[in-house]
Amino acid sequence: MDDSLATAPDQLVQRHAQPGRSLITILHAIQDELGYVPAAAVEPLARALNLSRAEVHGVISYYHHFRTTPAAPVTVQLCRAEACRSMGTEALAQHIEAHTGCRFDAGHHDGATVELESVYCLGQCALSPALMLNGTLHARVSPQKFDALLAAARKRVEVPA
Ligand code: FES
Repeated sequence: MDDSLATAPDQLVQRHAQPGRSLITILHAIQDELGYVPAAAVEPLARALNLSRAEVHGVISYYHHFRTTPAAPVTVQLCRAEACRSMGTEALAQHIEAHTGCRFDAGHHDGATVELESVYCLGQCALSPALMLNGTLHARVSPQKFDALLAAARKRVEVPA
């Protein structure tokens, strides 16, 4: 992620708002580049696509996928849909909260190094429970496997355990 790009929302939008691209496609591209869609991008997006700011904001807020703030260095998205529930995802969620000291769906607070998010089906139902850790999919996750994955992720982003 390059934070300097967040201070240049016009250039950010110009780079991604090529003719024929939909708002959703542009939002994905911005989030892929920055890790989130900065609030300052709403106005130039509205101008570029001839939409109202409310329309752009409505799309961003409707889709749970789009973030409006930077993510924590370590982000865990745990599937809590039916197949994973039947394979113990709620017990895993309790373990994850106890192990990290964070709560699911509490957002990312300044200084927090881990963010926990509930999601509903990652397409790995036959290999549940499943989760994404910093964008990488993991299946058949046990508490022990989670602990190892988290330790490795913290090491990669240089966050103390
Ligand atoms: S229900 Fe969890 S991956 Fe589908």
